[in-house]
Amino acid sequence: MRRIYRYPLLLITLFSLSIHHTQATTPIQNPNTIVQDIIGTKGMVSSQHYLASQEGLKILKKGGNAIDAAVCMGFVLAVTLPRAGNIGGGGFMLIHIASENRTIAIDYREIAPQKSSKDMFLNKYGQSDDIKSRYSIFSSGIPGTVYGLTEALNQYGTLSLKEILKPAIHYAKKGFVITPELAHSLQKAHPRLSKHKATSAIFYPSNKDFYAPGDKLVQKDLAWSLQQLARHGRKAFYDGPITERILDYSQKNNGLFNKTDFKSYKSVTRKPVVGTYKDFTVVTMPPPSSGGIVLIQLLNIAEQFPLKKWGYPSAKTMHVMIEAMKLGYADRAHFLGDPDFVNMPTSVLISKNYARQRRLQIDLSKAESVNTIHHGKIPKSQYDTTSTIVKPNKESSETTHFSVIDKDGNCVSNTYTLNFSYGNGQVVPGTGILLNNEMDDFSSKPGHANAYGLIGSTANAISGHKRMLSSMTPTIVFKDNHPFLITGSPGGSRIITTVYQMIIQIIDFDRTISEATYAPRFHHQWKPDRIYLERGQSKDTMRLLQEKGHSIVISRAYGGTQSILIKNKVLYGASDPRKPDSLTVGY
Ligand code: DON
Repeated sequence: MRRIYRYPLLLITLFSLSIHHTQATTPIQNPNTIVQDIIGTKGMVSSQHYLASQEGLKILKKGGNAIDAAVCMGFVLAVTLPRAGNIGGGGFMLIHIASENRTIAIDYREIAPQKSSKDMFLNKYGQSDDIKSRYSIFSSGIPGTVYGLTEALNQYGTLSLKEILKPAIHYAKKGFVITPELAHSLQKAHPRLSKHKATSAIFYPSNKDFYAPGDKLVQKDLAWSLQQLARHGRKAFYDGPITERILDYSQKNNGLFNKTDFKSYKSVTRKPVVGTYKDFTVVTMPPPSSGGIVLIQLLNIAEQFPLKKWGYPSAKTMHVMIEAMKLGYADRAHFLGDPDFVNMPTSVLISKNYARQRRLQIDLSKAESVNTIHHGKIPKSQYDTTSTIVKPNKESSETTHFSVIDKDGNCVSNTYTLNFSYGNGQVVPGTGILLNNEMDDFSSKPGHANAYGLIGSTANAISGHKRMLSSMTPTIVFKDNHPFLITGSPGGSRIITTVYQMIIQIIDFDRTISEATYAPRFHHQWKPDRIYLERGQSKDTMRLLQEKGHSIVISRAYGGTQSILIKNKVLYGASDPRKPDSLTVGY
């Protein structure tokens, strides 16, 4: 509750909503929990910015479906959460269409410009140039967000793009109130953002150093871009007035973007990867995200141990979950990349049989050194060769997660990003659009760590129009064919293990959605050999883990889940307190 008192506007909103919820739903509050979930019975939205959630809820209430609400939220977040919400980045959306009992995945990940090359981030000594891959004009991939959001709307929504864009245009044009969180984030990013004139002009006032909480942030150029989308549809971004400004900026800075990069960009509708965990079906993101495959691998391994008996977060349970993480991330580094460029042994990796073999490397009494953990040995003959692409039904045309469910049971689980907070920090003049720095997610050189410490192999090497491997893990868990949990998170490499812990806590330990969200997290990614532990774990547990040989680093808080749990037709939601502007609302 602490965060509520810090934000008067949020307090008023929550208060008015809580009256609504209390009247409608008091009997189903859980009296035994120390943190109460948000409750709804018809529809619910959960996102990292309260204005996006409020606009999403309005759409649900006036009869729009989950896809309409999600697309609207995606565009509003591009305005109100500039560090992660975006139209200059990319991401992944899972859509569950209730009437057809079908879930599809829209992959709107950025692609490398055509002129990119495998060694483009190596200096003359053959070393990776992290500044170039993270902050330069070369750090940006061709953005996919506009394509992905409009594709979702065209294929599965009911409202027009014009209608959907109204709130985003309003907040960009008229401005919105800067929260303490946004003011703080802009201050922190100042050294990076102030280097770029167009960026500085938007995010820092000319007459003083910083915006203060309560000031308004107006983004006139971004309003122009959104208006172009409302008028011309996505063509404005990929072959129209916005493209011209982006290409002009790239050319002036000797960047690689060309007209064909934009004209040929398409999101891809893919089959999600599907696994089971106990009586539940886990539907999650396929490559080019590694998230789904690794998540299912970790769950398959966890399933073989009596975690329920061992308790959570006991050292025993954590030990097994951590050892599983090491195995999963070792496979990630070796096998995974863009499925349109490389074949992968996906079916083997997510199989129960493979998990049974991998599990043999887990010693309950000691932590395995990462130097003796390697990727699994899977013969090339067992690699998948079938395409992951699904044809849509009708022809037509810092990362953040949001979850939506509507009254008919349609769901959206969406994670999208600019990669770093505010991407590479460069706003394209005249557009208000921040560019991503997603190119750093490629493996610039085998064995060299990206910004999240992840290493990769040739499967994730750079190539023109290839998608860089991601960890984003939008997920929908089903029970008896009905949506049970919609979740996802930011956090770079830690996304996968965050979602993993959400699922285990809820399924094995019957935790409420808030309890699972609030609990301290832990993460291991094979290399480096350490557990990143959020504060709040008991000293005893830490000691027991250290006695098994684990090396522990206390980490800053990370992740930001926005989740909805559905039990007996009641919707329970929770936003992550690590993201103070977030809001979950139901009706
Ligand atoms: O796609 C990925 O895996 C990363 N670019 C995600 C970055 C991220 O989550 C940053 N937010 N905390």
